[in-house]
Amino acid sequence: MMFSIYEGLLDMIALFLSVLSGTPSLASRETFYPPLNHTTFITNTSLGTYGGVYHAPTDQASPIREEQNYNYCTMPHPRGDTYSLPPPVADHSVNARLVYLEYLQRHQRRTPYNILPGGENQEYNCDNIHPHLYAAPAAQGTPPATVYGQAYFDPSNPFLISYVNGSCQYPQLTIGGLLDGYQHGRDLRAVYGDQLGLIPDSPDARVWFRSSSSALTQGSAGGVLRGVFPEHTGPIPLHQQAASVDTVDRGFPCSAQNTLLATIQSTPVWNEHLTVTEPLRTRLSTMFNATASWTSTVDHFADNFQARLCNGYDLPCRRQNESDCVTPDQANEIFRAGDWEWNYWWRTNPHAMRYIQLVEGLFIGEIVRKFEAVQQGQSDLVYSHNFVHDGDIGPILGALGIKSLRWPGMASNVAFEIWETSDSQFYARVLYSGSAIETIYGTLDWIPLSALIDILQPFIPDDIISMCRSS
Ligand SMILES: *[C@@H]1O[C@H](CO)[C@@H](O)[C@H](O)[C@H]1NC(C)=O
Ligand SMILES: *[C@@H]1O[C@H](CO)[C@@H](O)[C@H](O)[C@H]1NC(C)=O
Ligand SMILES: *[C@@H]1O[C@H](CO)[C@@H](O)[C@H](O)[C@H]1NC(C)=O
Ligand SMILES: *[C@@H]1O[C@H](CO)[C@@H](O)[C@H](O)[C@H]1NC(C)=O
Ligand SMILES: *[C@@H]1O[C@H](CO)[C@@H](O)[C@H](O)[C@H]1NC(C)=O
Repeated sequence: MMFSIYEGLLDMIALFLSVLSGTPSLASRETFYPPLNHTTFITNTSLGTYGGVYHAPTDQASPIREEQNYNYCTMPHPRGDTYSLPPPVADHSVNARLVYLEYLQRHQRRTPYNILPGGENQEYNCDNIHPHLYAAPAAQGTPPATVYGQAYFDPSNPFLISYVNGSCQYPQLTIGGLLDGYQHGRDLRAVYGDQLGLIPDSPDARVWFRSSSSALTQGSAGGVLRGVFPEHTGPIPLHQQAASVDTVDRGFPCSAQNTLLATIQSTPVWNEHLTVTEPLRTRLSTMFNATASWTSTVDHFADNFQARLCNGYDLPCRRQNESDCVTPDQANEIFRAGDWEWNYWWRTNPHAMRYIQLVEGLFIGEIVRKFEAVQQGQSDLVYSHNFVHDGDIGPILGALGIKSLRWPGMASNVAFEIWETSDSQFYARVLYSGSAIETIYGTLDWIPLSALIDILQPFIPDDIISMCRSS
């Protein structure tokens, strides 16, 4: 309770500052769709965070917010108190029931992938979460000791001088991320279990779960599925493809992805974004000894700053001078540039369709085949939930033609709902982070399932192996 008052205060201060600095006042959903099609979005400092939230507490779940704004730390998701039925179902112009849910989500919040090359001035603490790591016989047998990973540093390790102190792995799920996961699952239970009666009380043959091969997505699944199945005690299979050929998280070998990305990142528009961010990238590089991989995109700085702010820490300071710190204005410009880059990669660059085919086309194909099974009355499943990464959510939103694409934040999610009408027609609704997604095809709140398949079909490659080889 204390925390939500504190968070409420932070929000009020943020609102006050945004009024002072002239940040446009935006309706909650507008914060998902900024004008990312021009580099003035990056340079216009008065845009601030464009209504986005970039802070969350250290040891607590994220506060539940009335406003469903873009929230990088904990993206909104379907919730009992905000969920609404598809318009034609709500107004009784059609009689339909939900028959299938394909749910995709990014893992919950975490420590960063990227540690500042000059070392970090603050510790990260992960003592309050135990990432478990045991294997057990599938059949009856002696259960294993329930060991967990406890990260630590030996002070004699010379590499620590230019690294980060603390008790975490990088990246790893944080306690805040795990607690957010419980809430995420409870909310899905409230909507798709209690309200719509789709998800069974305990996992059975009608439900199916998948993760990438990363500990982050697996740990998130444990949290979210606890919320979905609060009473269930047994183990739950979390399906994974072999890491080297995985169709999510860029698992399979495909050199053409990098070749095409190099082309995408050499266009005049891309270079314009490098030019306008040059002073900031140079300043930050000097502060933190950053080299080329840190400055060719804003990915690493954004990741580093987001992880601090999303787990209750401060923006970093230079190790050589601890009063030389990243300012909120600098962080916001990095975040706006990050949003611009995601929109460019997956929406507006001239090669976006081929890039999505190469990176995500196989997974899109797997999803479409599940839709077709439902359409043909041959699906054994009613609920499938995939725990993946921003690099999977982004291209799928791109394939759906999202109006504009901000960086898909922690636990960003896509709910593909399939409804069957009383005259046996199938309709789809696509929610992005809890609300019907706005796309170049309009708002996808009630379209024939076949129309949704038609939107996705062109992104499924005919022959990925030869596409990946050719460059
Ligand atoms: C950017 O998109 C907005 C609508 O979202 C449109 O009004 C504007 O013309 C676009 N600008 C460019 C440069 O394409
Ligand atoms: C910057 O954003 C503000 C708020 O939306 C807008 O009024 C102003 O015209 C923008 N400035 C430029 C140079 O685009
Ligand atoms: C970072 O650069 C500063 C000079 O700005 C230097 O003193 C320091 O040793 C560098 N740190 C590392 C880890 O290279
Ligand atoms: C880690 O903590 C130790 C002890 O507090 C300190 O001497 C050292 O400078 C710290 N190193 C880093 C990289 O922050
Ligand atoms: C440390 O950083 C602060 C803030 O940027 C600056 O004012 C000060 O001059 C710096 N100190 C040194 C010794 O460089």
